[in-house]
Amino acid sequence: MVGNLIESSSLDFPLSITPTKSAHDNLISVRHARQEDLLDILQIERLSCPSPWTFSIFNYFLGTPGFLVATIPSADSLIGDILPLSNAHPAIVGFIIADVVLEDEVPLGHIKDIAVSLPWRGNGIGTRLISHILHDFSLKKIKKVKLEVRKGNKTATSLYNRFGFSFHHIISNYYADGEDALVLILELS
Ligand SMILES: CC(C)(COP(=O)(O)OP(=O)(O)OC[C@H]1O[C@@H](n2cnc3c(N)ncnc32)[C@H](O)[C@@H]1OP(=O)(O)O)[C@@H](O)C(=O)NCCC(=O)NCCS
Repeated sequence: MVGNLIESSSLDFPLSITPTKSAHDNLISVRHARQEDLLDILQIERLSCPSPWTFSIFNYFLGTPGFLVATIPSADSLIGDILPLSNAHPAIVGFIIADVVLEDEVPLGHIKDIAVSLPWRGNGIGTRLISHILHDFSLKKIKKVKLEVRKGNKTATSLYNRFGFSFHHIISNYYADGEDALVLILELS
């Protein structure tokens, strides 16, 4: 499935490379994160993650190619929740941070963090963000992508599995609260 998404995707960033998943799908845009997004990103992180990253970590990744946000027209620019009047002040509804690390001198894509604002979950935003990152990795000829996910995080794990990520190994006590991490790997063709 991921292979198809990548092959059929447009090279024009930030067009969608995923199938339409909801009535909101055509309202969602993906772009690089900016300084003025950071407080919204931090808010989503705090409401989404048991051990949230700090402002300074997000600030550190600002300007890197793998730090993306998903936006929608702001609530006060929507009629009946679907008709945009203006896109002057889009709201941040999700983000992803990924980078490329060297493992045994081989470049490895690493998805480090992803979260979607609670009311917007289940609308394909996570799928869109991951698709963008995988597309970007494929353009960079990255062959392998890894990520860590909490052992108990079934929603995220099933989302990753849908992209073809599979279990590689477990890291005990990986998170600050003691939860184990599953390391998932995706081989990109
Ligand atoms: C994991 C996460 C980023 C997914 O974002 P999302 O925008 O809801 O993702 P999608 O809509 O693309 O897909 C979510 C899947 O969850 C399910 N889902 C459906 N409705 C949902 C809802 N209201 N809420 C949550 N999940 C829902 C669906 O099964 C969907 O899979 P499907 O496409 O096979 O049906 C989001 O749940 C989140 O922010 N979780 C908290 C942070 C987190 O766990 N991050 C991962 C760290 S490794």
